[in-house]
Amino acid sequence: MCGIVGYIGTQQAAPLIVSGLKRLEYRGYDSTGVCVLSDDAMRIEKRAGRVKDLENIVDIASIHGSVGVGHTRWATHGVPNDANAHPHTDQDGGIALVHNGIIENYLTIKKKLESAGYSFRSDTDSEVLAVFIGMLYKTLGDLELAVRTALTEVEGTFGIVVVSVHEPDMIIAARRGSPLILGIGNGEYLVASDASAVISHTRQVVYLQENEMAILTRDGFSTKTIENVDTRSVVEEIAFELEQIERGGFDHFMLKEIYEQPITFRDGFRGRLNIEEGSVRLGGLGPVVDQLRQAKRIIITACGTSWHAALVGEYLIEQLARVPVEVEYASEFRYRNPIIHHDDVVIAISQSGETADTLAAIREAKLKGATVIGMVNVVGSTIARETDAGVYLHAGPEIGVASTKAFTSQLCVLTQFALFLGRMKAVSAQQGKDLADALEQIPEQITRILDNAEPIKKIAHEYAQASNFLYLGRGYNFPAALEGALKLKEISYIHAEGYPAAEMKHGPIALIDENMPVVFIAPKDEIYDKIVSNIEEVRARNGRVIAIADDDDEHIARVANHVIRVPRTIPMLTPILASIPLQLLAYYIALERGCNVDMPRNLAKSVTVE
Ligand code: F6R
Repeated sequence: MCGIVGYIGTQQAAPLIVSGLKRLEYRGYDSTGVCVLSDDAMRIEKRAGRVKDLENIVDIASIHGSVGVGHTRWATHGVPNDANAHPHTDQDGGIALVHNGIIENYLTIKKKLESAGYSFRSDTDSEVLAVFIGMLYKTLGDLELAVRTALTEVEGTFGIVVVSVHEPDMIIAARRGSPLILGIGNGEYLVASDASAVISHTRQVVYLQENEMAILTRDGFSTKTIENVDTRSVVEEIAFELEQIERGGFDHFMLKEIYEQPITFRDGFRGRLNIEEGSVRLGGLGPVVDQLRQAKRIIITACGTSWHAALVGEYLIEQLARVPVEVEYASEFRYRNPIIHHDDVVIAISQSGETADTLAAIREAKLKGATVIGMVNVVGSTIARETDAGVYLHAGPEIGVASTKAFTSQLCVLTQFALFLGRMKAVSAQQGKDLADALEQIPEQITRILDNAEPIKKIAHEYAQASNFLYLGRGYNFPAALEGALKLKEISYIHAEGYPAAEMKHGPIALIDENMPVVFIAPKDEIYDKIVSNIEEVRARNGRVIAIADDDDEHIARVANHVIRVPRTIPMLTPILASIPLQLLAYYIALERGCNVDMPRNLAKSVTVE
């Protein structure tokens, strides 16, 4: 949420910052701004809209200077307009700041500043912080001290970068709750909200820790806590390649990521799954194996798509390991004073590893003594660091705002986790082998679905103008139905609901008429006949049925209006295969409606605010 890039070095800062911002746009795209220092002056250009909108009206190459910051915004306080765009300056225009996060006590600070005669040009909490730093600088005469003093009074979350004409050969960065990394170049340093903005300059990075500040000059950098205690920073290598964050010939990142799934899914079990022994090796769980073996209960906490994966995880773990599982929205979990015992294991699932609610939930769980495990995609992210142990998804960078490949990788990891735990308990080697065999076939089965996208495009064309959709599934596919509905509403803005299919007659059936497309996930499992009865109920009310069914299911075409075929797998793995056509259906419907698939309105990747 919000993209930040800062640069200090020998090159022209503006073009470099702008190209970094383009890579960060998936974090927010409401407005764009840059600030560059040169000859004791500061030039700021900022506009509502995307980076390209700024480029259309400002000749970026004409902005000279080798120190600067830039920002792409996801609006929290104040509408997306030019005035609310970052960078924000202090009263005298000598200090500029970009900010990701929320200053919760900004109104209190603002009142204090107003009574001291200060005024404001924007509606943002971020400008209040800039003006506050400026006021402190006047008395302290030291930028670092002014920033540190301001931050000790601030409540809320921030990743900030500050530059100033008063001390022009320096950049100050600080974080609490919003990620920042330093890029270590040769005589040049960058600071950014994530590694994608720096990888074309350097692969060497330092992940700033919670409550840490960094002072960057052309000659080096130092880190310390906001309370001014020196810290030791570890330089790490970025864990992905530049090509992975480029579109690579696809029209959209979302489509690219959908088509990457045969590979990303395989990467999720490569080196972990032992088919011969029907077992799984999850090295990252080494430190907590005993706690896992003894756990009386597992709580999985997550948000959005990751929460849907958690629901599938609940079915998988209970089935294979016979341990009770509860799934909680992280946003609810953190605030309702949950009952947690020391022999509970709490699992946090997150693509970004930065989601504010999930992070707060694991902190709460740790405080109450639980063992906390992360299932995270982004290497080095905050959740990955703050959990006792974890399993990386290995899906590679996910740029499309609507999560796709991370979801199937989450299911891949959850299946293995359930087997890992199950094999310590009642699951036999043969049962484990059957599951491992089926899992190993999934990448090739996904490829077959992707190779046959034409029928899905046709269905998308036929239903693109619908106002509502229902998604129904049972058992393992109830969460898949929720996820299908979420994908559609996120990128096409069509209202969609997911339900357990049998729940339909307890209310949603009232919505069914000839204008209501209903997507059924109907694999041939032990409840197949029940699903077919639910389909008949919809058809009897003239609803239009799109069924996701096994490729050898001959009966289904007699009851459904449209059938999307997927290869046969074991029931446990059906949500993985079902989710592929659901992603494609949402994608093609959104295209038909002319929506911006990669940057849907109001959304942003990585929700680092509450
Ligand atoms: C949906 C989507 C969101 C995220 C949610 C959690 O397509 O992307 O619902 O799943 O914001 O994000 P992570 O997994 O990064 O914690």
